[in-house]
Amino acid sequence: MSDADGLRYTRIPLNNGSDEIPALGFGTLIPDPIKTKAAVRSSLELGFRQFDCAERYRNEEHVGDAMRAVFQDGKIARKDVFVGTKLWNNNHRPDRVRPAFEASLKRLQLEYVDLYSIHTPFAFKPGDEQDPRDEKGNVIYDGATTLTDTWKGLESLVDQGHCKAIGLSNVSLEQLKEVFEAARIKPAVLQVESHPYLPQSELLDYCRKNGIVMQAFAALGHGMEPRLLDDPIVTAIAKRVQKTPPQVLLAWAVQRVTAPLTTATSAGHIAENFDISTLPDDAIKEISEGISTRIRLNPVVNTGVPGFIPRRS
Ligand SMILES: NC(=O)c1ccc[n+]([C@@H]2O[C@H](COP(=O)([O-])OP(=O)(O)OC[C@H]3O[C@@H](n4cnc5c(N)ncnc54)[C@H](OP(=O)(O)O)[C@@H]3O)[C@@H](O)[C@H]2O)c1
Repeated sequence: MSDADGLRYTRIPLNNGSDEIPALGFGTLIPDPIKTKAAVRSSLELGFRQFDCAERYRNEEHVGDAMRAVFQDGKIARKDVFVGTKLWNNNHRPDRVRPAFEASLKRLQLEYVDLYSIHTPFAFKPGDEQDPRDEKGNVIYDGATTLTDTWKGLESLVDQGHCKAIGLSNVSLEQLKEVFEAARIKPAVLQVESHPYLPQSELLDYCRKNGIVMQAFAALGHGMEPRLLDDPIVTAIAKRVQKTPPQVLLAWAVQRVTAPLTTATSAGHIAENFDISTLPDDAIKEISEGISTRIRLNPVVNTGVPGFIPRRS
């Protein structure tokens, strides 16, 4: 095993025929604008080339500020960075997709994005309220818009050339199959929670067979209990291979050909998360077959209501 074995630079081909996604991704769900800017700058400078954003994170302009400043410095070119962002639930109506997409591009200060995804399969009441509620506090859904209707809106964006690939997030296998079978432009990426406590094996099998890349969020366990970073199998392997638990978890995710997302606000954690090395086959097997804890940490798949969102500033 060597630090320079290239695992951190792994790129996975996309099914749009022309692009690849860098496997190690940096997630931008950071509530504080100053921390967002600092983390995006550091992660670019420390080597990350894949970024996950969303209109729902309410910080695309801060991510865009940091990226623009780095691109202007001239050491990293826009074309070498893969940027994805996501459509929120209140914009699922096909006529709302293009304006929502253009607003994201403007906030990110980019001419195109590499990936645009539907954040959840739940259509909320169309309008500018991201979290529409009735007088009892219940979410107001939009029963008139199907996921396939919204997908068609995303296909038009690819036709118009400002978006290179399109994807889905937080959908079930059944929903993925439904969109895949109806799609003129196939989903290139599926973003779901995935880690050794939620390996998503069935979804991953379907993705592999159909050329879809699985992007894995909560790759380090979302900072929640039960703490993946303290799992005895993970910590024992980390000790054995002289890496840290986050590095073991990220290497496992890349070696099973998924694209893990992490979010860290300190430069130390960001550097650590990029400094991964290939794990021996027995360690991969031990994680995949020896860990039996099963838990979903993020409930967004149940209702479309997210757990971790910055407050409106
Ligand atoms: N599609 C969706 O619905 C969805 C949902 C959630 C997240 N996401 C995406 O996934 C991204 C990743 O978020 P996540 O919460 O899943 O990330 P995560 O990396 O599993 O968890 C983040 C937590 O781990 C800590 N951490 C990061 N690196 C560490 C290290 N080397 N050592 C110790 N602790 C470390 C962070 O603390 P520090 O800040 O102190 O470093 C933070 O508390 C998000 O930013 C977002 O882009 C998508």
